[in-house]
Amino acid sequence: MFNTEFIAFDSYAPPRVVTNDDLSKLVDTSDEWISSRTGISQRHISEGENTSEICIKVAEGLLKKSGLAPDEIDLIIVATITPDFATPNTACLVQAAIGAENAFAFDISAACSGFVFASSIADKYIKSGMCKNAIVIGAETLSKIVNWEDRTTCVLFGDGGAGVVMSRGERNCYLAEDMHSDGSLGLRLTGGETKVRNAYSAPEEADRRYLEMDGRTIFNFSTKRVPASINILLDKAGLTIDDIDYVVPHQANSRIVEVVAKKLGISMDRFYMNIASYGNTSAASIPMALAQMDREGLLKKGTKLVITGFGGGLTWGSALIEI
Ligand code: COA
Repeated sequence: MFNTEFIAFDSYAPPRVVTNDDLSKLVDTSDEWISSRTGISQRHISEGENTSEICIKVAEGLLKKSGLAPDEIDLIIVATITPDFATPNTACLVQAAIGAENAFAFDISAACSGFVFASSIADKYIKSGMCKNAIVIGAETLSKIVNWEDRTTCVLFGDGGAGVVMSRGERNCYLAEDMHSDGSLGLRLTGGETKVRNAYSAPEEADRRYLEMDGRTIFNFSTKRVPASINILLDKAGLTIDDIDYVVPHQANSRIVEVVAKKLGISMDRFYMNIASYGNTSAASIPMALAQMDREGLLKKGTKLVITGFGGGLTWGSALIEI
């Protein structure tokens, strides 16, 4: 069995910043409502860049930061619910753009848990000896599946992408994990549906194309499942929450994280939060936070992090990683 290390972090957000005040010109809302209910002040919204273009910028940054040549990458995974196409997958578009000719490349769909699940997959390929260098990206252009006339959802989401390079190394830095799904609640958070329409079938109902969510159910699910998952993770690793430098949660909503912190008996400053600047970017949110932490010098050798994702599927999962 081989070891997995994290060797580079990078992120990219489309340049257009949309503030809460900007949104109050589109729908009946206010900065006060959005920031007090969610902690979001602004989000980045694509003016045309699709998910693959965001991913390519991230992958180029990761190559530069890791010092790896494109032909040294043997695996590319993109976690996204907003791919450009059903096929080719986003990861193949990245592979072509960066010239990673030795990589195999695929997408995974697990919404806001996508990056946690994808990094777990990459860890197994590396630990098994099948891969040496993996690029793992979470990226979304949620703005293309948001209903811009629905104030209950359009204020929550943003666009962006980020990723990591995970490589075979000396130390084991992917220490423990805890992953779950509950498909029975799946239709409480939906988006991007395409019904069967063909020569033999013409359903009358419209597709649930836009993000729709039973916010209260998702709030209750998250505040119950996330602390439980973190406790299972710590038990597996034989650690306590005091051994962890930062919890890096999916940036869905500050109020969710406040309840999680209370249930874990720790203060909010143990959680790394950047939701105020980016909103909820689904699969991108955890790696975007990691990349920002890296830029701020918070990720030092030996730093222990819990990453924890939760959302559509419904899915949730946590991993204990060491830098
Ligand atoms: N601006 C102003 N008012 C708004 C609004 C907005 N953007 N969105 C909803 N409202 C209104 C509602 O219409 C409702 O008005 P009414 O009482 O006259 O009907 C009122 O605010 C309260 O709505 P409600 O949905 O009960 O608010 P809430 O306190 O539950 O907060 C969420 C809504 C979405 C912030 C909250 O449910 C939540 O955080 N859920 C988790 C969502 C999430 O993070 N999902 C992603 C997980 S990956």
